Amino acid sequence: MKHLIVYTHFNPESFTKSVVTEIERVNLENGHDVIVIDLYKDGFNPVLDQKDIGYMYQGEPVPEEIQKYHDLINWADHISFVYPLWWAQMPAILKGFIDRVFSNGYAFTYDENGAVGLLTGKKVNVFINTGAPNEYYTEIGMHKSLEQTNNDGIFEFCGMESKTVFFGNVAMGTDEERKAYLESIKTYYS
Ligand SMILES: Cc1cc2nc3c(=O)[nH]c(=O)nc-3n(C[C@H](O)[C@H](O)[C@H](O)COP(=O)(O)O)c2cc1C
Repeated sequence: MKHLIVYTHFNPESFTKSVVTEIERVNLENGHDVIVIDLYKDGFNPVLDQKDIGYMYQGEPVPEEIQKYHDLINWADHISFVYPLWWAQMPAILKGFIDRVFSNGYAFTYDENGAVGLLTGKKVNVFINTGAPNEYYTEIGMHKSLEQTNNDGIFEFCGMESKTVFFGNVAMGTDEERKAYLESIKTYYS
């Protein structure tokens, strides 16, 4: 199987990076091919502009910087997104990646019945690291909102099977808690 990881953090010492390293390790151990997209290292420009609208809706060529990500997504059977929660949302660089890459005509289209996902047959795992404890975010409905945005709003909209996992209390929690999160990662892959 071919596994693509979309990694969003500027800091190689971050917990987010540890999650990426563990996903990579588990998938290699399971005998899969792994490629990591490092959005900060790539210097990805997250600002959608007229050039993108041109390729999405006006029949213009796909910009080279976008085509290389389409090729990687086409290659993958399974995609993992890993990021820290910033202001109850994904970091801006990842939001821009979704805006510019998961485009009309590539990731979804419309027919007479409405939207149709075009990335069928692919699985997505989303790992979100939060400062807030899991119990609190479940209680106030934040987890549900984030699941709905990611699963219904983005990945399943594009036809993929999607699961969102939360690692809470990441900054203030104990080393044991963080270690337990990392150990749980293997349960999400086969
Ligand atoms: C700009 C910014 C906004 C943040 N907003 C939230 C938030 O809305 N909810 C939350 O639980 N944590 C929030 N945090 C805390 C991060 O999610 C937390 O520090 C991160 O998950 C720790 O993982 P890391 O070591 O990979 O950065 C925020 C952190 C930053 C820098």
